[in-house]
Amino acid sequence: MLETAAHPHSWIPSAVTFLSTHKTFLTVFWILFFFTLFYWQRDTVPAAAAVFIFRRPYTLPRELPRLRPAVYNLTDFGGVGDGLTLNTAAFEGAVMAISKLGRSGGGQLNVPPGNWLTAPFNLTSHMTLFLAEGAVILGIDDENYWPLMPPLPAYGYGREHKGPRYGSLIHGQNLRDVVITGHNGTINGQGQTWWKKYRRKLLNHTRGPLVQIMWSTDILISNITLRDSPFWTLHPYDCKNVTIRNVTILAPIFEAPNTDGIDPDSCEDMVVEDCYISVGDDGVAIKSGWDQYGITYGRPSTNILIRNLVIRSMVSEMSGGVSNFTIENIHVWNSRRAVRIKTAPGRGGYIRNITYRNLTFDNVRVGIVIKTDYNEHPDEGFDRDAAPVVEDISYTSVHG
Ligand SMILES: *[C@@H]1O[C@H](CO)[C@@H](O)[C@H](O)[C@H]1NC(C)=O
Ligand SMILES: *[C@@H]1O[C@H](CO)[C@@H](O)[C@H](O)[C@H]1NC(C)=O
Ligand SMILES: *[C@@H]1O[C@H](CO)[C@@H](O)[C@H](O)[C@H]1NC(C)=O
Ligand SMILES: *[C@@H]1O[C@H](CO)[C@@H](O)[C@H](O)[C@H]1NC(C)=O
Ligand SMILES: *[C@@H]1O[C@H](CO)[C@@H](O)[C@H](O)[C@H]1NC(C)=O
Ligand SMILES: *[C@@H]1O[C@H](CO)[C@@H](O)[C@H](O)[C@H]1NC(C)=O
Ligand SMILES: *[C@@H]1O[C@H](CO)[C@@H](O)[C@H](O)[C@H]1NC(C)=O
Ligand SMILES: *[C@@H]1O[C@H](CO)[C@@H](O)[C@H](O)[C@H]1NC(C)=O
Ligand SMILES: *[C@@H]1O[C@H](CO)[C@@H](O)[C@H](O)[C@H]1NC(C)=O
Ligand SMILES: *[C@@H]1O[C@H](CO)[C@@H](O)[C@H](O)[C@H]1NC(C)=O
Repeated sequence: MLETAAHPHSWIPSAVTFLSTHKTFLTVFWILFFFTLFYWQRDTVPAAAAVFIFRRPYTLPRELPRLRPAVYNLTDFGGVGDGLTLNTAAFEGAVMAISKLGRSGGGQLNVPPGNWLTAPFNLTSHMTLFLAEGAVILGIDDENYWPLMPPLPAYGYGREHKGPRYGSLIHGQNLRDVVITGHNGTINGQGQTWWKKYRRKLLNHTRGPLVQIMWSTDILISNITLRDSPFWTLHPYDCKNVTIRNVTILAPIFEAPNTDGIDPDSCEDMVVEDCYISVGDDGVAIKSGWDQYGITYGRPSTNILIRNLVIRSMVSEMSGGVSNFTIENIHVWNSRRAVRIKTAPGRGGYIRNITYRNLTFDNVRVGIVIKTDYNEHPDEGFDRDAAPVVEDISYTSVHG
């Protein structure tokens, strides 16, 4: 105690000695300091001029690449990016124009910087949707603008409600050669209203996904951001040759129910890589239908490669036929579960030949889960003897 009390006094004399004996050093120091200041002041004039001269080219909007023989601008079709005007007709007009180009290489629709509010619209084959930097496609959050569609055949049910379901904001059926890309432009589903209505049970139909492509081949989705989907974010359904690369998927971790990131569903030959996903439900969930409907539909998810992802929630697989699937170099953080296989009697099908490699778990409560009693069924018509087969699953290099 005494010692600590003495300290404040003991350092003063030594400091004084230090100052006096190092007077020369201090003088040199101050001289150097002022010289530096002087030179810095002198330098700022040309430096400022250089900044002024070289700054302008950098603030010009990035030139958009030409990826198809025909290139359109959304404004050519009357689009207004003020966040208030409804641009559904502009998108539909552009898609119509591109659909007429047929096989001659197709067309590209550029969405310039701005907030482009729209109701759901359909894509067409041989089309590239290009979102410039600062371009945001905003989904209108009034469900009256969202068309109803029959339930997915492999689900037999609207998932949350019986009967029809809402379609997706950006939708496609029976297409080939579709690209959605950009300079990290955004498709924003404005899910907040939907999540609130869902929790208050104000919706009579299953919410719509943000992007859903069905029965299609040769699909590429890259270099964009998808956020705040009303429901699942990106849902390729019964598609072949799908690539999802360098996509950011965001939704609040809490209060954004069922906002899965990517749901490859009855898909074949698919790659998902270099993505960052932070959502309110599964980051990636491989599916292939639901119980007897999935079994009848009989289309497995197979030959899927998932790699180099950072996911702030879980990866899971479920049900009626998932095979030949590799998942590697995955960093899962801040999640209750990391990788989970979930299935149940009634699901039928199989989960076979699945390789997990180089997984890093960070702040994860349970790393690996295989759950065989995930009892969630569309209705009472499921076959209680339809036991799923789970085999040939390997986990290597799991860290964390
Ligand atoms: C689209 O058209 C608008 C208005 O004519 C123009 O300002 C913008 O630069 C165009 N953008 C592209 C990507 O062509
Ligand atoms: C998109 O196409 C599907 C299938 O043809 C149709 O059911 C749906 O109503 C269309 N959606 C819109 C917004 O036109
Ligand atoms: C990923 O997308 C961003 C933004 O669109 C782009 O700047 C970056 O170069 C892309 N990275 C790769 C590896 O393609
Ligand atoms: C793209 O934009 C999102 C959201 O604005 C951002 O989080 C992400 O880092 C960006 N990606 C790249 C590659 O710049
Ligand atoms: C749901 O159905 C009820 C009763 O049929 C109706 O009053 C209500 O407007 C419907 N809500 C929506 C969002 O369609
Ligand atoms: C898969 O689709 C891409 C376009 O996304 C295309 O370039 C490629 O040739 C297709 N692969 C096969 C095997 O058809
Ligand atoms: C993504 O963007 C980068 C940088 O602009 C570009 O080099 C790359 O080809 C794009 N990738 C795809 C798959 O579009
Ligand atoms: C899984 O891969 C093997 C070997 O490449 C192939 O023989 C088999 O048909 C694949 N299974 C499915 C369901 O595609
Ligand atoms: C297992 O799946 C991988 C692809 O993930 C495939 O290359 C391999 O041939 C399959 N093996 C068998 C035995 O089906
Ligand atoms: C394992 O995955 C991490 C990313 O999670 C990556 O940085 C690392 O290079 C991978 N290691 C190997 C050996 O591929």
